[in-house]
Amino acid sequence: FSFKKNKKPTTSILTTQPDHDILKEISLKVHEPALQKQINMIGLTTNDLVLTLKLRPYIQANIEEIVNTFYASFALEQGLIDIINSYSSIDRLKLTLKKHILESFNGRFTDEDVSRIRRIAHIHVKIGLEAKWYMAAFQPLLVSVIKTVEPHLTTKEEIVEAVQSVTKIFNLEQQIVLE
Ligand code: HEM
Repeated sequence: FSFKKNKKPTTSILTTQPDHDILKEISLKVHEPALQKQINMIGLTTNDLVLTLKLRPYIQANIEEIVNTFYASFALEQGLIDIINSYSSIDRLKLTLKKHILESFNGRFTDEDVSRIRRIAHIHVKIGLEAKWYMAAFQPLLVSVIKTVEPHLTTKEEIVEAVQSVTKIFNLEQQIVLE
């Protein structure tokens, strides 16, 4: 018998069996042999997709702040602001980035996602964005995603698993963009 109050939640989102609704969303189907090897090399499996889908509601709840932090990081390099102002606007990009981030957490990684990411890569090539800035921009994005989900996780193991799954999906996106 315990009078302890404010106990941390004991149910882990990692060990809780995904229910049918979650499992039917999950799909890891990429047909290009080279990409299949790259996926195997980083150890991305459907377990990672289940986990990132479980994290999605937290990302969605904080998406405004995540994209604000992302674009705030550009302020240090005027060249990036100039690129945005000549091709688009921060407000427009915030909308497309929100959509893109939520799509990355939808439990799927298929040929369609590969094409979508290649389209985004192509846009960045067209606007003359150097790869180093693209890579630099990913870091504050990753950090705000980690900060967003961490309070909802209960154990150290769970946090490590979540960080691994998120970095795997981001890493795969980077591989496709930089190819
Ligand atoms: C477009 C994501 C880095 C500038 C886009 C789009 C997405 C995206 C999803 C929309 C594509 C579409 O219209 O379908 C990302 C991600 C980045 C990144 C995930 C890195 C983590 C950057 C950086 C700049 C930038 C560092 C700095 C200049 C732009 C511009 C467009 C664009 C100007 C719009 C181009 C146009 O509308 O023609 N990006 N981006 N992006 N991005 Fe990025």
